[in-house]
Amino acid sequence: MSRYYTAALKLGKALQAREDYLTLAIETSCDETAVAVLQGKRILSSSIMSQIDIHKRFGGVVPEIASRNHIAAIDNIVECALAEAGVKADQINVIAVTYGAGLLGALIVGVSYAKSLAYALGIPCYGINHIKGHIFANFGCHDISLPAIALIVSGGHTAIAKVNSYNDIELLGSTRDDAAGEAFDKVARVLGLEYPGGPKISILAKEGQNSIKMPRSFKGEEHLNFSFSGLKTSIVNYVHNLEQKALPIPKADIACSFQEEVASVLVSNTIKAVQRTKIDKVILAGGVGANELLRSKLRTACEEIGATLYMPEKKHCTDNAAMIGVASYYAIKEGMLPSPLTLDATAELKIDEHN
Ligand code: KG4
Ligand code: ZN
Repeated sequence: MSRYYTAALKLGKALQAREDYLTLAIETSCDETAVAVLQGKRILSSSIMSQIDIHKRFGGVVPEIASRNHIAAIDNIVECALAEAGVKADQINVIAVTYGAGLLGALIVGVSYAKSLAYALGIPCYGINHIKGHIFANFGCHDISLPAIALIVSGGHTAIAKVNSYNDIELLGSTRDDAAGEAFDKVARVLGLEYPGGPKISILAKEGQNSIKMPRSFKGEEHLNFSFSGLKTSIVNYVHNLEQKALPIPKADIACSFQEEVASVLVSNTIKAVQRTKIDKVILAGGVGANELLRSKLRTACEEIGATLYMPEKKHCTDNAAMIGVASYYAIKEGMLPSPLTLDATAELKIDEHN
C-alpha cells in the first residue's frame, strides 16, 4: 500500500466523527464544470461554469468539446469556489469527485484533477456516484430520516428507488429506453427549441393547452418501469404528418400535452412505489426535478396520500458540485473508504451497488 493511501485511510477514518472538516467537491460528468466547498455537509460555496452556450449550436453535448472545456475551466472554477468560501487550498481536508456515470472524457478531467490535488495535499479523495449525488442534494437542505422513495429524473437516468443509505439503494423501477430529460431534449429538438430542451418546453407549455392525446407505455402493468421512446416517436410522427400537409404545428399544445404526460407517469409510478413499500417519504432528484409542473403534481399527489415530499432548490436539481460534497459527507459517515490513486472514471455506474 502506498504511503499516500495509508495516510489517507487514517485521515478518512478520523473524519467519520467530525462535522467541521472542509471538503472540496468536483463535478465534471457532462457539460458543467462545477466545484463546491463544504464544511461538514454545510455548503459554503458552489461555483458552476456551464458549457451550454458552446454546445447548443450542435443541438446537444459534444463529448470531446466538453472534455476540452473542462480542462480549460477547472483551475479557475476551483479558485472561484475557494475564494467565495474564504478557504485556502491547504485548509481543505477532503476531496470528493464524481467518477461516474457520465461522459468518460469529461469525467476523466475531474477525476485526474481531484486525485492530483489530493496527492499533493496529502488528503483523502472520495469517488462519488453522480446519481447518488442527485439524491443526496436533498440532504444539504432537509433533515431526512431514511428509508425514503427517490424519484430520479435526469438527462441520463430515470428511476424509482428505495434509499436506505448511501450504499444501500434498491432499484424499484427504471426506464427501458430514454431518460425523462432525454425525452424533453429530443421533443424540444423536434419543436425547433434549443438545447437543453427541458426548460424551453416548460416555458412554451405555459402558452398551450393539454389538448393532444399522448400514448402511455406500460398502461395497467404492475411494474414501476418507464418508457418514453414511444411518446417521443408519436410526437415526431404527429409533427411530420402536419408538415407534409403544410398545416400549422401547434407547438405550445404539443409542449403542454407532452409535459403533462411525462409528469403524470412519473408521479403515478412514484405514488405506486410509496403505497407498495409503505414508505411515506419521497425525494425528488435530478435535472428534470426543476420542472415546475412535475414539482406541483408531485406535491399534490404526496399531500393526498399523506407522504412527505423533499425537493432540492431548483438550482440544486441540475448538475452541481455541492450535491457531490453532501453525498461524500454521508458516504464518509457510513464508513466508505477513500479511493485509491488508481480510481478510474467510468461511464456506467449502477445505483444499487456499493460504489
Ligand atoms: O441532472 P441533469 O442536470 O444532468 C444529468 O445528470 O443528466 O439533468 C439534465 C436534464 C436535461 O435533459 C434537461 O433538459 C432537464 O434535465 N431539465 C429539465 C428542466 N431543467 C432541466 N427538464 C424539464 N424541465 C425543466 N425545468
Ligand atoms: Zn446529473
